[in-house]
Amino acid sequence: MPVALITGASRGLGEATARALAGRGWSLVADARRGADLTDALRGLPRVIAIPGDVTDPGHRAQLAASVARLGRLDVLINNASSLGPSPLPALRDYDLDELRRVQETNLLAPLALIQLLAGPLTASGGTIVNISSDAAVEAYPGWGGYGSAKAALDHLTAVLAAEEESLRCYAFDPGDMRTEMHQLAFPGEDISDRPEPVSVVPALLRLIGERPPSGRYRAGDLSSGNEMVQVAS
Ligand SMILES: NC(=O)c1ccc[n+]([C@@H]2O[C@H](COP(=O)([O-])OP(=O)(O)OC[C@H]3O[C@@H](n4cnc5c(N)ncnc54)[C@H](OP(=O)(O)O)[C@@H]3O)[C@@H](O)[C@H]2O)c1
Repeated sequence: MPVALITGASRGLGEATARALAGRGWSLVADARRGADLTDALRGLPRVIAIPGDVTDPGHRAQLAASVARLGRLDVLINNASSLGPSPLPALRDYDLDELRRVQETNLLAPLALIQLLAGPLTASGGTIVNISSDAAVEAYPGWGGYGSAKAALDHLTAVLAAEEESLRCYAFDPGDMRTEMHQLAFPGEDISDRPEPVSVVPALLRLIGERPPSGRYRAGDLSSGNEMVQVAS
């Protein structure tokens, strides 16, 4: 039975992905900071170990790794939990540096810390790392300098990891705009009902995990069924 660890699984893309994988027979380790939301979101799903906590907390990451160790294998690590930073999004000249450090801790350092902790079981299974990216990693949108620079660094980290870890598949996956809490925070007070639901992105992510193309950066739109898989330069 394949095993995945997915961070930020209480709502949005993380929850939709957790539901899809659990429905396909995967065992899951999942987290989010708000424990009640996590329990509510994943209630009734089989073979899910839900561990409330913050990915920036080394003790919590150790708990996640201990659960993986108890399951005895790890096939896929999905670093999905992410911080947008302050809302409304500040211009870089006004960006509070402590806020920026928190964004980088969540979006860059915590994913690497989990990769380091779980490198053993991932290597043993010839596994897959999916770091959830964003178009803000490659486009220069005003206000997105904190979040976007952390995602750009995550993309580059993923590319270097791919060069170092030949036995693994290492992906940066850009899901595109989704109607989620994070997206609403990025556009406070705006109607975001025209954005697609996160569940619409899941088939592309499942295709990436299932078909295991060469390591690289992929956009959800390029992985829609019927499309040839195209890797995107970061
Ligand atoms: N929505 C978009 O338009 C969009 C576009 C491009 C990329 N993305 C990326 O897609 C991914 C999913 O985003 P989303 O829109 O689905 O977000 P979301 O709906 O806001 O969900 C974020 C999830 O991560 C958890 N989380 C946040 N910080 C955490 C932390 N420090 N430790 C553990 N869990 C944490 C949240 O639960 P708690 O708050 O309870 O911790 C929640 O479960 C992110 O990597 C995001 O950057 C989103």
